[in-house]
Amino acid sequence: MSTPHIESRPGAFAPTVLLPGDPLRAEHIATRLLEGAERVNAVRNMFGFTGRWRGHPVSVMGTGMGIPSCSIYATELVRHFGVRRLIRLGTCGAVHGDLDLGDVVVALGASTDSGVNRTRFAGMDLAATASWSLLHPVATALMRSGTPIHVGNVFSADLFYDPRPNLLEHLASMNILAVEMEAAGLYGLAAEHRVEALAVLVVSDHLRRNERMSSEERQRGSDTLAASILDALFDQARRAR
Ligand code: HPA
Repeated sequence: MSTPHIESRPGAFAPTVLLPGDPLRAEHIATRLLEGAERVNAVRNMFGFTGRWRGHPVSVMGTGMGIPSCSIYATELVRHFGVRRLIRLGTCGAVHGDLDLGDVVVALGASTDSGVNRTRFAGMDLAATASWSLLHPVATALMRSGTPIHVGNVFSADLFYDPRPNLLEHLASMNILAVEMEAAGLYGLAAEHRVEALAVLVVSDHLRRNERMSSEERQRGSDTLAASILDALFDQARRAR
């Protein structure tokens, strides 16, 4: 089956898809964590893979950066490939003083300066929220494992290089934890399509302290997080049976 941005056979993707921004990160996660990982998309080098995590089918696919790119892939996965659980696995820049490099932010809600959810919602403001059925098991498992996590509101920015000098102060004044670039779009499209979405983000830099992780630290952080997320989601499936 071909969509404008994904060339794959019907059924090539699992109902549960991890979505890192970087397609090479998708390859890294799939080949290290999944059994029998097979590449199921390579259009524009936006690699997607499907394999198994402890016997459960799972896909991992890059989304590119920003709401427009992420929305294209997520929409096609949902509409044409039967994907039902979209878990963004990304990084974020901390705004809140309590966050440290390497901490994990679970985006309960996603504010944004993007217009996509107003476009979806007749000009009104949508509360773009995570799915409880994903957030609850993932946040619980991360807390139990001793991972430093923060659950709250993130800001999905349209501009990485934003010229507004007071933006960070505005975000901090409304208790925004961190900045990233996709969650609000993903949550809006999940609401539109009645599917589940969650964004789980490693703090890769601190925007108010000028600190940043190395790329090896980012990779290690996202590998560990991917394994914890999959454990949490499928452990829940096992217990529910
Ligand atoms: N801005 C937007 N997205 C990000 C950042 C940032 O500073 N850091 C990691 N993802």
